[in-house]
Amino acid sequence: MNKNVAVDRDLDPANMLKWYIECGVNETISNSEINWFEENNNIVINQQVNENTSIISKRSQKPAVQPPLTTNKEIIENAEKLAAASTTLDELKAAILSFDGCSLKKTASNTVFSDGNPKSDIMLIGEAPGAEEDRTGKPFVGEAGQLLDKMFAAVNMTRKDDFYVANVLPWRPPGNRKPTEAECNVCLPFLRRHIELFDPKMIILIGGTSASALLNVQTGITKLRGKWLEYSLGEQKIPIMPIFHPAYLLRQPHFKKQTWHDLLSIKEKIGRID
Ligand code: URA
Repeated sequence: MNKNVAVDRDLDPANMLKWYIECGVNETISNSEINWFEENNNIVINQQVNENTSIISKRSQKPAVQPPLTTNKEIIENAEKLAAASTTLDELKAAILSFDGCSLKKTASNTVFSDGNPKSDIMLIGEAPGAEEDRTGKPFVGEAGQLLDKMFAAVNMTRKDDFYVANVLPWRPPGNRKPTEAECNVCLPFLRRHIELFDPKMIILIGGTSASALLNVQTGITKLRGKWLEYSLGEQKIPIMPIFHPAYLLRQPHFKKQTWHDLLSIKEKIGRID
């Protein structure tokens, strides 16, 4: 503290602490960021609060946030169990509907499972439903979805006949915020089973979130897009390509040129697979 500056009474730490107590503050700050939408993070919060036990937290006998009954690991294991027990796409959809381990479900109006031709060979995987998808219960029906359909129509492919589309998350993050890694991890067992049950000959990852979730990489979409990679499905190696998200192309239309090259590469690969 600069000794030449008189301590402002309002900024005196003891006064501030008194002020916080009068305001009802009963928790210390944690050492890392807290995602308040993520119920499971409560475990970490409480551990940190207990470790940092202060005058403030000693005031209350009980922590303000009650520890949840399950840990994140248990929630993921439950998702894996439910996913593995599903033997058809309909059963998987029912399993997701019955799953309460992701707090996004509470704020969403609908569970968004999939759209398109379930008998086609190509699976597109986006990030999460937006407002329109949440309202209708179908993926990619808003402005970005309409651009997605136009992009594929440019290489003579329609959702009705030629591809099937799902998302990493079946629930809309509030305000269309980017999903957290924890939210993606909780929902990934369902997506992996979705891929197994659909059994695609090719997977297209739409945008950076689905690319990093499924490929388990930190590399940005700008570097990943347009590259053919492989997704392991048992013994099979499925060709997989990340492309720019149409929502990004709506904001940055000059990247449509690269996407056109990616679409031509997809079309050419389909010709070789068939
Ligand atoms: N963006 C996505 O990633 N998925 C949708 O379903 C809609 C918008």
